Amino acid sequence: MSSKLPIYVKDGLSDEGNRRRRVTLNSKSVFLAFCTLALLSFNLFLVSGNHERSQRIPQNAQEILSQCALLKQTPGPPSNFHARESSDRLEEGTKATLIKNATVWTGLSDGKELVKRADILLEKGIIKGLGSSIEKKHLRILRDNDELVELDVGGAWVTPGIVDLHSHLGVFSTPKLNGAMDVNSPNGPVLPWLRSIDAFNTHDDAFQLAISGGVTTAQVLPGSGNAIGGQAFIVKLRKTSDRSATSMIVEPPYTLNGTTPLPGQPLRWRHLKQACGENLRRYGTRMDALWSFRSAYDEARKIKNAQDAFCTKAEQGLWNELKGESFPDNLKWEMLVDVLRGKVKIANHCYEETDLDDIVRITNEFKFPIASFHHASEAWLVPDVLKRAYGGPPAIAIFASNHRYKRESFRGSEFAPRVLADNGISVVMKSDHPVLNSRYLLSEAQQAHYFSLSPHLALASVTSTPAKAAGMDHRVGYIKEGYDADIVVWDMNPLRVGARPRQVWIDGLAQLGLEDGRLLVSEDKGLRSLPKTPNWDRERDDAVKYEGLPPLDTIIKKKKGRVVVKDVKEVWSSSESETLSKPGTVIFEDGKIACVGLLKCVWSEKEEGITVVDLKGGVIAPGSFSFGSQLGLQEIQGEPSTGPGTGLDAFDGVPSIVGDETGLEKSVDALKFGTRNALKAHLAGTTLSSTSSLLSSPYTLTSTFRTGSLNALEDGAIISDGNALHVTIKRPGTGFRAGGGSVSISAQIKVLRDLLLKGEGVFGDVAKGSLPLIVETGSADIIAAIVRLKRDVEGKLDAKLKLVISGASEAHLVADELAQENIGVILKPSHAFPDSWDERRILAGPPLTNTTSIVTLIKSGVTVGLGVKEGWEASLTRFDAYWAYIDSDNFLTKKQAYDLVSSNLETLLGVWSSTNSVDEDRDWVLYEGGDVFALESKVIGVASGRRRVVELF
Ligand SMILES: *[C@@H]1O[C@H](CO)[C@@H](O)[C@H](O)[C@H]1NC(C)=O
Ligand SMILES: *[C@@H]1O[C@H](CO)[C@@H](O)[C@H](O)[C@H]1NC(C)=O
Ligand SMILES: *[C@@H]1O[C@H](CO)[C@@H](O)[C@H](O)[C@H]1NC(C)=O
Repeated sequence: MSSKLPIYVKDGLSDEGNRRRRVTLNSKSVFLAFCTLALLSFNLFLVSGNHERSQRIPQNAQEILSQCALLKQTPGPPSNFHARESSDRLEEGTKATLIKNATVWTGLSDGKELVKRADILLEKGIIKGLGSSIEKKHLRILRDNDELVELDVGGAWVTPGIVDLHSHLGVFSTPKLNGAMDVNSPNGPVLPWLRSIDAFNTHDDAFQLAISGGVTTAQVLPGSGNAIGGQAFIVKLRKTSDRSATSMIVEPPYTLNGTTPLPGQPLRWRHLKQACGENLRRYGTRMDALWSFRSAYDEARKIKNAQDAFCTKAEQGLWNELKGESFPDNLKWEMLVDVLRGKVKIANHCYEETDLDDIVRITNEFKFPIASFHHASEAWLVPDVLKRAYGGPPAIAIFASNHRYKRESFRGSEFAPRVLADNGISVVMKSDHPVLNSRYLLSEAQQAHYFSLSPHLALASVTSTPAKAAGMDHRVGYIKEGYDADIVVWDMNPLRVGARPRQVWIDGLAQLGLEDGRLLVSEDKGLRSLPKTPNWDRERDDAVKYEGLPPLDTIIKKKKGRVVVKDVKEVWSSSESETLSKPGTVIFEDGKIACVGLLKCVWSEKEEGITVVDLKGGVIAPGSFSFGSQLGLQEIQGEPSTGPGTGLDAFDGVPSIVGDETGLEKSVDALKFGTRNALKAHLAGTTLSSTSSLLSSPYTLTSTFRTGSLNALEDGAIISDGNALHVTIKRPGTGFRAGGGSVSISAQIKVLRDLLLKGEGVFGDVAKGSLPLIVETGSADIIAAIVRLKRDVEGKLDAKLKLVISGASEAHLVADELAQENIGVILKPSHAFPDSWDERRILAGPPLTNTTSIVTLIKSGVTVGLGVKEGWEASLTRFDAYWAYIDSDNFLTKKQAYDLVSSNLETLLGVWSSTNSVDEDRDWVLYEGGDVFALESKVIGVASGRRRVVELF
């Protein structure tokens, strides 16, 4: 709108005050307004007719009336949208594609529709046909396209492209660099005028990674550092020929370039990010944050009311009363006015009951809906609060198991998706990329399914449900004629851990490998079926009953004496040759294995005190091992009062009272037992963990503890009080407090070299090779410098260092050299991600590369372990190992893959020594109903020789 003030011409029709003006309404411009606004102008006519006094019609009356009419328009697709011939996003040269013989999960019928042996025809960026008789129905397309790409997928699973409702792709870019950290504005709690697209970096390394995980569409949200953080945009992740951020937006709202829809065309949805809770404490208390919402919406409400009053007059033709008044508007608040007019899908970051309740109250006070609550760790506990939200309950967008990282996520639960679904609330799984690498968003749905969400809702949670919450379900999230040609062909059932895209199309363009749509990954037909999942009824009921904090220790039943485990399919041991198939029965005596095998194990139900467990064809395996997080040091990452405190930093100056200029700390002294993350790890079969307070100290002595122990003095709680020296070499600006953060790389390496050559205390043990040295770095260059340091020290001292590189994203670039030097590697995270500049040269793994770092390193002869970054991940180590197995494409056996998170880590970290022993201290885990990697299986117990019990959960 050019001018909002009514403009009156000096002469002619408008100057004389009291002339009856009804007749002049047929002036050309007003007549046009009549045509577009038939109903309104009819009213206007009538109302004018009722007024005896004549009105002075402004010259820009039509513009004003159009603008008023626009206020009442609602967003959404045109009614004939699905009849479109071609996509608005079509790229020139997009070939028609016929995908034949697919098992298609369409998303329709609440996600329950599966079309088998179906063909899918993609043309001009949209889905033209789906079904079995496509050839007949679409003869023209098939005949006229000499470049038709045909592809028989042999019955493989096909789903719509994955939709990530919560991503910071492009605004929190990878690798993280200060120059592109554009996710949170520091400029106050209320900023509805900001737009994520204005900061959108089209060079983010993560786009291609996300596509390789099947993600095709994402909502790019500003950060959650502000109550109203700014406008969000829905983008497709593929490259566009235009290369601009704008060209990646799906249905850009007209406000973005200040245009209005053509006559007959509806508006498009706008998107807004809001946040409440802890993050807002930077601007005061929760009370302040809520006032900031209310005062902002009050401002918007005043403008809305003024606009409505203005437009009512204009539409009634009461132009005289508008003289000197301009259309009430304010660029800063127009977004919130659109919220009040129901034109905006709000994604609201909000964790706790109290915060959810606050926002729900506000929606009723100001009468606007919330499309989705995000994070929402306690939403599953308050379904009735959600149902009170104005306009209906929002969808709930959550993580599967990433909980307890801050106070407000402490009650998050892996059972939340199912509980929400049982209450009729829409469940969305989201990445919050890069918090979770969105490449593995599907894995969130797999976990939700593992923890009892139905399969159709699990698949919908990353496709159709988020599409609906974003107002995009008319074109993405389903496989249906007329929808965007965003399609993924999977190499196994998509709800199985390890599922990878064989090919991904966005707007009909194949994204992986060659343009011909070639399938990159072969399929394992044995894994096509839906995985069965364990029964979690008891755990889920407890989770609800105890409001997210079910007791984790008192549910353990401790059995002394003889425990007979029946129907055991395999006993895995740390060496492949010892792994026993079909042992049938295993008997534990006071937690120790007494016999294995039907013949060797003689027992009777009548024996006094005997406990009998039916493993239902499950497996007994050594406990897995976790390394790399603050597990056992910190209960809640975001709460300093639950953690070990800031470590001593040799580069920052160690107080003289410490009496050791390196400030070397023994992390064992800060161990904390019985944390929820540790107990959950224990209940999931991760029975041992090594930890070090590296977050703040360059030098720490790593300690190893039992995750299931409740205090340090319990027998077997501490496996080792100093099994390795952990050293970090860090670049500036990588989040490290001081030391490595501000001291040069060469200075850090010089100091380490000197300490080893001087050989005092622990550094002497390292120099002699009796204590492993774990160096934390991602960079191949720093690894090379450390290799040179090793050679140097070994040459001068005539010793052999036991060196391990942890982090090691770029280790595959120097795999042969590491093998020659007998240096081990702990990959952390286990899935390569180019988080920082030092970690950017990753081997991404299939379908982007033929091989992975894990395989490359092992092929070169390097011993490899897999680490984790955060405590909650410790209960998922077996799935990390399974991914390594799948991605190795049969190079690794399952057993070798499991070693990556068990015996290999123990070896690399020097866990076993003269003061403890593998046989005494390593626990056995009972997996019921399947093997260690199977989604069918569930950990039901841990046998501990050292503690002389079998624990049953
Ligand atoms: C479709 O794939 C299935 C599974 O591979 C196969 O048995 C069937 O013969 C295929 N049908 C056609 C029409 O190609
Ligand atoms: C403005 O945006 C609308 C909506 O995407 C689009 O149709 C129109 O072509 C754009 N106009 C200009 C000048 O960029
Ligand atoms: C990956 O493997 C395929 C099939 O074996 C081969 O055609 C391709 O060249 C390989 N790519 C690379 C980068 O090695």
